Amino acid sequence: CGKAKIGPSILNADLSQLASECQRMMDSGADYLHLDVMDGQFVPNLTFGHPVVKCLRPKMPNVFFDMHMMVAAPEQWIEGMHAAGANQYTFHQEATEDPKSCIRKIKETGMKAGIGIKPNTPVEVLDPYVDLVDMVLIMTVEPGFGGQKFMADMMPKIQYLREHFGHIDIEVDGGVGPATIQQCADAGANMIVSGSAVTGSENPRETINYMRNVVEE
Ligand code: DX5
Ligand code: ZN
Repeated sequence: CGKAKIGPSILNADLSQLASECQRMMDSGADYLHLDVMDGQFVPNLTFGHPVVKCLRPKMPNVFFDMHMMVAAPEQWIEGMHAAGANQYTFHQEATEDPKSCIRKIKETGMKAGIGIKPNTPVEVLDPYVDLVDMVLIMTVEPGFGGQKFMADMMPKIQYLREHFGHIDIEVDGGVGPATIQQCADAGANMIVSGSAVTGSENPRETINYMRNVVEE
């Protein structure tokens, strides 16, 4: 169903070697990088913020950085992420009172805007925002940790978005790998986040290619 994009998540990679792990993913044929930001409030875990992105950017000037902002009050990091060189700012509907204003602020910087939902959030909450954003994100695990089990019962959310909103970019994130990619493709996802399945693969290039072929079939 059209052009697939594969965006590895380096959450479960060797974070002491962040730049080389990111480069390894790009050298393996990744289309973009999905960078997971956690603040210990919106999710029960911590990763990194815009100061780290700022250091990473000069090492890979042309790579598309999709920032997955698993943070409370996502408005507060828009400017910092933009200044650090982020390309897309994907926040959670559950994290803010005013998603429309958050989208507006993101777009004002020139970044692309994405909006996502956690597994317990019904997909219909996204209706008012889909036409305002560049991408919607359907989580297929409870956000916070890499390497969790894929929740197949989230697929109807992706089907709903594909049916009602046509050619939008739909990203799927959590437990996605060669064993679960077919379901994501069938449902209509075209932006594929895959963490441990790619970073832990003996042959990341093959794993990425396999998933891309399944989606583009
Ligand atoms: C979960 C993150 C995901 C996840 C991806 O909170 O948003 O990006 O770590 O990793 P895997 O593919 O291992 O679930
Ligand atoms: Zn993520």
